[in-house]
Amino acid sequence: MTDSLTVRDNRTGNEYELPLTDGTIRAADLGGIRTGDDDPGVAVYDPGFTNTASCRSSITYIDGDKGILEYRGYPIEQLAESSTYLEVAYLLIHGELPDKSQYETWEHQITYHTFVHENVKSFMQGFRYDAHPMGMLLASVGALSTFYPESRNISDPSNRHMQMVRLIAKMPTLGAWAFRHGQGKPYVYPDNELSYAANFLAMLFKMSEQKFLADERLTKALEILFILHADHEQNCSTNAVRSVGSSQVDPYSATTAGIAALYGPLHGGANEAVLRMLRRIGSIDNVPDFITGVKNGDERLMGFGHRVYKNYDPRATIIKRACDDVFAVTGVNPLLEIAVELEKIALEDEYFVSRKLYPNVDFYSGLIYEALSFPPEMFTVLFAIPRTAGWLAQWRELVDDKDQKIARPKQIYTGERTLDFTPREQRWG
Ligand code: CMC
Repeated sequence: MTDSLTVRDNRTGNEYELPLTDGTIRAADLGGIRTGDDDPGVAVYDPGFTNTASCRSSITYIDGDKGILEYRGYPIEQLAESSTYLEVAYLLIHGELPDKSQYETWEHQITYHTFVHENVKSFMQGFRYDAHPMGMLLASVGALSTFYPESRNISDPSNRHMQMVRLIAKMPTLGAWAFRHGQGKPYVYPDNELSYAANFLAMLFKMSEQKFLADERLTKALEILFILHADHEQNCSTNAVRSVGSSQVDPYSATTAGIAALYGPLHGGANEAVLRMLRRIGSIDNVPDFITGVKNGDERLMGFGHRVYKNYDPRATIIKRACDDVFAVTGVNPLLEIAVELEKIALEDEYFVSRKLYPNVDFYSGLIYEALSFPPEMFTVLFAIPRTAGWLAQWRELVDDKDQKIARPKQIYTGERTLDFTPREQRWG
């Protein structure tokens, strides 16, 4: 058996042999299939990249049919159970689990870069009182590039490393300050004696106490949520980071593109949309009517369905379990009842079954976030903070990948051609 495709062009009768590597043909090889010199060659039309590989990657593996997710080969279930977010971040970026001294150095570096320049604080304070925290995060991460102009030198590995440490370290600070801003509360500085997740909770919720120590069960639940959100291969925001990063811009600007993509309701904004949906449904008695609306196409069941998972999202299973631990501390979120009923009905309904629509990571995470006293606007920030490690791992892989070029898709032009400009006097009558 030869690893190739034979393509016959029925317009010319010519046959072409296209090599197959890892089940893919190179799109450029299709460009050689032409009817004549004026023909630009065959291209692939693939809006949303539903069947186009944009890179080779060794970071995250997903088998959507089987519901498998692995970071660098390690199953997500084991990482969520036994690892820490910073260890996972190291694994994603460096490709291997750290030994003791590597871990301690990494943790030390991240911990000691949690502070941001005071001017960052001043400009964050300039946002309107009701600014969406994702908008604030997006702007402030983008602005970090102006504080570290050396970050433009992306060809120097040690410089790259420094910026990755800074970004992972500062995201919780910026995210927490965006939250405090909306509450009209003073921004809280990092506490470098605390773990990554515990420090984040302290910056969010500390008031007049000398030291804020969150309940360990909540810290652990947040750590698990961070691990689950750390990477997810070539999703919309990662693609945005890679696409913008392919211009060789600094990592702060590339990460900002990821945050912007994550902001959208079909991506990271879905958990916020789930909460709003559950509130709108209001009681389990209204669930059947809501499901009818979804099937009629009037609604979308937010938190359901995934481009890749055609089975239960493994992250949703872990989050559902974490709900119990969080609710043991905070009391049960009353919306849980509605979510469970929605899931039960949807998993038995032909509409959802035939389309392989299952709960995704966002279906239950919002319930936990709400129980932790976060307003829905903060949910996507809680996604962006841990995803930073994944974005940076993907960015680093991109920068080192000799196959990569500046992202520049083709288009199929459907507009007019060679029109003569009509002067204003004639058009305006
Ligand atoms: N509710 C109702 N119908 C749905 C849903 C849903 N949540 N998701 C997909 N469908 C239907 C869709 O209408 C289509 O039906 P038909 O074939 O009759 O036209 C079919 O299922 C296939 O859907 P699609 O929109 O072609 O699938 P996609 O791969 O382009 O979209 C998705 C994936 C995640 C955008 C979509 O499932 C969706 O909008 N879900 C709700 C939003 C959501 O929960 N997003 C979070 C995704 S997980 C977090 C992340 O990784 O970002």
